[in-house]
Amino acid sequence: MNSRVFLAIFICLSSSIGLSKHIECDLTLDDFKPLITNGEIQNRIIEMAKQINHDYAGQELTLIMIMKGAVCIASDLMQKITVPCTIEHMQASSYGQNGTHAGVLTLKGIENIDFEGKHILLVDDIFDTGATITKIKAELAQYNPASIKSAVLLVKNKARAMQEVPEYIAFTIENQFVIGYGLDYKELYRGLPDIWVKKD
Ligand code: IMP
Ligand code: MG
Repeated sequence: MNSRVFLAIFICLSSSIGLSKHIECDLTLDDFKPLITNGEIQNRIIEMAKQINHDYAGQELTLIMIMKGAVCIASDLMQKITVPCTIEHMQASSYGQNGTHAGVLTLKGIENIDFEGKHILLVDDIFDTGATITKIKAELAQYNPASIKSAVLLVKNKARAMQEVPEYIAFTIENQFVIGYGLDYKELYRGLPDIWVKKD
Protein backbone atom coordinates (compact mmCIF):
# COMPACT_ATOMS: atom_id res chain seq x y z
CA MET A 1 0.00 0.00 0.00
CA ASN A 2 1.51 3.34 -0.96
CA SER A 3 1.70 6.10 1.65
CA ARG A 4 -1.04 8.27 0.05
CA VAL A 5 -3.60 5.43 0.10
CA PHE A 6 -2.64 4.64 3.69
CA LEU A 7 -3.07 8.30 4.69
CA ALA A 8 -6.50 8.50 2.99
CA ILE A 9 -7.72 5.34 4.81
CA PHE A 10 -6.37 6.67 8.12
CA ILE A 11 -8.18 10.03 7.72
CA CYS A 12 -11.46 8.28 6.76
CA LEU A 13 -11.30 5.92 9.75
CA SER A 14 -10.38 8.58 12.32
CA SER A 15 -13.10 10.98 11.16
CA SER A 16 -15.77 8.26 11.26
CA ILE A 17 -14.68 7.24 14.79
CA GLY A 18 -14.84 10.92 15.83
CA LEU A 19 -18.31 11.27 14.31
CA SER A 20 -19.75 8.24 16.11
CA LYS A 21 -18.27 9.44 19.41
CA HIS A 22 -19.91 12.82 18.88
CA ILE A 23 -23.32 11.22 18.21
CA GLU A 24 -22.98 8.90 21.22
CA CYS A 25 -22.35 11.64 23.78
CA ASP A 26 -24.88 14.18 22.46
CA LEU A 27 -27.83 14.11 24.84
CA THR A 28 -31.34 15.42 24.21
CA LEU A 29 -34.20 15.90 26.67
CA ASP A 30 -35.36 12.36 25.73
CA ASP A 31 -32.30 11.06 27.59
CA PHE A 32 -33.57 12.66 30.83
CA LYS A 33 -36.59 12.15 33.11
CA PRO A 34 -38.16 14.59 35.62
CA LEU A 35 -36.67 14.42 39.13
CA ILE A 36 -37.77 17.49 41.16
CA THR A 37 -40.62 19.82 40.19
CA ASN A 38 -40.41 23.60 40.32
CA GLY A 39 -43.12 23.56 43.01
CA GLU A 40 -40.99 21.31 45.22
CA ILE A 41 -37.99 23.59 44.63
CA GLN A 42 -39.99 26.71 45.60
CA ASN A 43 -41.18 25.05 48.83
CA ARG A 44 -37.63 24.16 49.84
CA ILE A 45 -36.38 27.67 48.98
CA ILE A 46 -38.99 29.15 51.32
CA GLU A 47 -37.66 26.87 54.09
CA MET A 48 -34.02 27.74 53.32
CA ALA A 49 -34.80 31.47 53.33
CA LYS A 50 -36.56 31.15 56.71
CA GLN A 51 -33.44 29.55 58.17
CA ILE A 52 -31.17 32.18 56.57
CA ASN A 53 -33.35 35.06 57.83
CA HIS A 54 -33.23 33.52 61.31
CA ASP A 55 -29.45 32.88 61.29
CA TYR A 56 -28.52 36.36 59.98
CA ALA A 57 -31.04 38.35 62.03
CA GLY A 58 -29.57 41.77 62.90
CA GLN A 59 -26.78 41.40 60.33
CA GLU A 60 -26.25 42.48 56.74
CA LEU A 61 -25.68 39.74 54.19
CA THR A 62 -23.66 39.67 50.96
CA LEU A 63 -25.10 37.04 48.64
CA ILE A 64 -22.64 35.87 45.99
CA MET A 65 -24.07 34.09 42.97
CA ILE A 66 -21.70 31.55 41.46
CA MET A 67 -22.56 31.92 37.79
CA LYS A 68 -23.97 30.57 35.73
CA GLY A 69 -25.51 27.61 37.55
CA ALA A 70 -26.79 29.68 40.49
CA VAL A 71 -28.89 31.96 38.28
CA CYS A 72 -32.27 30.37 39.14
CA ILE A 73 -31.78 29.52 42.82
CA ALA A 74 -30.14 32.89 43.58
CA SER A 75 -32.98 34.75 41.90
CA ASP A 76 -35.70 32.86 43.80
CA LEU A 77 -33.81 32.81 47.11
CA MET A 78 -32.99 36.54 47.18
CA GLN A 79 -36.69 37.36 46.84
CA LYS A 80 -37.39 35.50 50.09
CA ILE A 81 -34.51 36.99 52.10
CA THR A 82 -35.73 39.70 54.45
CA VAL A 83 -32.46 40.68 56.19
CA PRO A 84 -30.56 43.55 54.46
CA CYS A 85 -28.80 41.91 51.55
CA THR A 86 -26.50 42.96 48.71
CA ILE A 87 -25.99 40.79 45.62
CA GLU A 88 -22.69 40.13 43.86
CA HIS A 89 -21.62 37.57 41.32
CA MET A 90 -18.53 35.68 40.26
CA GLN A 91 -17.97 32.98 37.69
CA ALA A 92 -16.67 29.47 38.26
CA SER A 93 -16.25 26.95 35.46
CA SER A 94 -15.35 23.44 36.48
CA TYR A 95 -16.65 21.43 33.54
CA GLY A 96 -14.95 21.30 30.15
CA GLN A 97 -16.83 21.23 26.86
CA ASN A 98 -17.52 17.51 27.28
CA GLY A 99 -20.53 18.49 29.34
CA THR A 100 -20.30 15.83 32.03
CA HIS A 101 -16.57 15.52 32.64
CA ALA A 102 -14.79 17.84 35.03
CA GLY A 103 -12.21 20.14 33.51
CA VAL A 104 -9.93 22.75 35.05
CA LEU A 105 -11.58 24.96 37.67
CA THR A 106 -11.30 28.66 36.87
CA LEU A 107 -12.65 31.58 38.93
CA LYS A 108 -13.40 35.04 37.55
CA GLY A 109 -14.73 38.23 39.11
CA ILE A 110 -13.38 37.96 42.69
CA GLU A 111 -11.42 41.19 42.20
CA ASN A 112 -14.65 43.20 41.69
CA ILE A 113 -16.14 42.35 45.11
CA ASP A 114 -15.47 43.90 48.52
CA PHE A 115 -15.39 41.09 51.09
CA GLU A 116 -13.71 42.86 54.05
CA GLY A 117 -15.85 42.52 57.21
CA LYS A 118 -18.86 41.17 55.24
CA HIS A 119 -21.07 38.16 56.00
CA ILE A 120 -20.71 36.20 52.77
CA LEU A 121 -23.25 33.64 51.57
CA LEU A 122 -22.12 31.79 48.43
CA VAL A 123 -25.02 30.52 46.33
CA ASP A 124 -24.39 27.68 43.87
CA ASP A 125 -26.39 25.13 41.91
CA ILE A 126 -24.81 21.86 42.98
CA PHE A 127 -22.17 20.50 45.35
CA ASP A 128 -20.72 17.46 43.59
CA THR A 129 -17.13 16.80 44.69
CA GLY A 130 -17.18 20.06 46.62
CA ALA A 131 -14.05 21.29 44.81
CA THR A 132 -15.66 24.51 43.53
CA ILE A 133 -17.08 25.77 46.81
CA THR A 134 -14.07 24.61 48.81
CA LYS A 135 -11.72 26.48 46.47
CA ILE A 136 -13.85 29.65 46.49
CA LYS A 137 -14.09 29.61 50.30
CA ALA A 138 -10.29 29.26 50.58
CA GLU A 139 -9.72 32.16 48.13
CA LEU A 140 -12.22 34.47 49.83
CA ALA A 141 -10.82 33.82 53.32
CA GLN A 142 -7.78 35.92 52.30
CA TYR A 143 -9.98 39.04 52.03
CA ASN A 144 -11.00 39.00 55.75
CA PRO A 145 -14.77 38.54 55.51
CA ALA A 146 -16.69 38.40 58.82
CA SER A 147 -18.03 34.95 57.84
CA ILE A 148 -18.39 32.68 54.80
CA LYS A 149 -21.21 30.15 54.40
CA SER A 150 -22.75 28.51 51.36
CA ALA A 151 -26.24 27.66 50.13
CA VAL A 152 -26.81 25.13 47.34
CA LEU A 153 -29.75 23.72 45.46
CA LEU A 154 -28.36 20.18 45.37
CA VAL A 155 -25.74 18.09 47.13
CA LYS A 156 -24.71 15.12 45.05
CA ASN A 157 -23.19 11.97 46.41
CA LYS A 158 -22.60 13.31 49.89
CA ALA A 159 -20.22 10.46 50.73
CA ARG A 160 -17.77 11.58 48.03
CA ALA A 161 -17.69 15.21 49.21
CA MET A 162 -14.15 16.15 50.11
CA GLN A 163 -14.92 18.82 52.70
CA GLU A 164 -17.77 19.81 54.98
CA VAL A 165 -21.06 20.21 53.08
CA PRO A 166 -22.80 23.60 52.61
CA GLU A 167 -24.74 25.06 55.55
CA TYR A 168 -27.96 25.41 53.52
CA ILE A 169 -29.06 22.60 51.17
CA ALA A 170 -32.36 22.34 49.29
CA PHE A 171 -32.07 18.66 48.22
CA THR A 172 -29.62 15.76 48.42
CA ILE A 173 -29.58 13.50 45.33
CA GLU A 174 -27.83 10.34 44.15
CA ASN A 175 -24.67 10.52 42.06
CA GLN A 176 -26.52 11.12 38.79
CA PHE A 177 -26.22 13.81 36.13
CA VAL A 178 -28.95 16.46 36.35
CA ILE A 179 -30.06 19.43 34.26
CA GLY A 180 -32.55 22.28 34.57
CA TYR A 181 -33.21 25.16 36.97
CA GLY A 182 -29.75 26.59 36.24
CA LEU A 183 -27.93 23.29 35.66
CA ASP A 184 -26.59 22.70 32.17
CA TYR A 185 -25.48 20.02 29.78
CA LYS A 186 -23.03 21.70 27.37
CA GLU A 187 -24.55 25.08 28.36
CA LEU A 188 -28.06 23.93 27.36
CA TYR A 189 -31.19 23.32 29.46
CA ARG A 190 -30.46 25.88 32.23
CA GLY A 191 -33.91 27.41 31.64
CA LEU A 192 -35.98 24.29 32.41
CA PRO A 193 -38.18 25.12 35.42
CA ASP A 194 -37.84 21.58 36.88
CA ILE A 195 -34.78 19.43 37.57
CA TRP A 196 -34.33 16.44 35.24
CA VAL A 197 -32.05 13.44 35.75
CA LYS A 198 -30.22 11.42 33.08
CA LYS A 199 -31.87 8.04 32.48
CA ASP A 200 -29.69 5.02 33.39
P1 IMP B 1 -17.93 20.38 42.23
O1 IMP B 1 -16.79 21.36 42.16
O2 IMP B 1 -17.49 18.97 41.89
O3 IMP B 1 -18.71 20.42 43.51
O4 IMP B 1 -18.90 20.73 41.03
C1 IMP B 1 -19.63 21.84 41.04
C2 IMP B 1 -19.99 22.28 39.64
O5 IMP B 1 -20.00 21.23 38.68
C3 IMP B 1 -21.39 22.82 39.69
O6 IMP B 1 -21.42 24.19 40.03
C4 IMP B 1 -21.90 22.53 38.29
O7 IMP B 1 -21.60 23.60 37.42
C5 IMP B 1 -21.12 21.30 37.84
N1 IMP B 1 -21.93 20.05 38.01
C6 IMP B 1 -21.73 19.05 38.90
N2 IMP B 1 -22.64 18.09 38.77
C7 IMP B 1 -23.47 18.48 37.77
C8 IMP B 1 -24.65 17.89 37.18
O8 IMP B 1 -25.15 16.81 37.53
N3 IMP B 1 -25.24 18.62 36.17
C9 IMP B 1 -24.75 19.81 35.74
N4 IMP B 1 -23.66 20.40 36.28
C10 IMP B 1 -23.02 19.74 37.28
MG1 MG C 1 -22.03 23.98 35.11
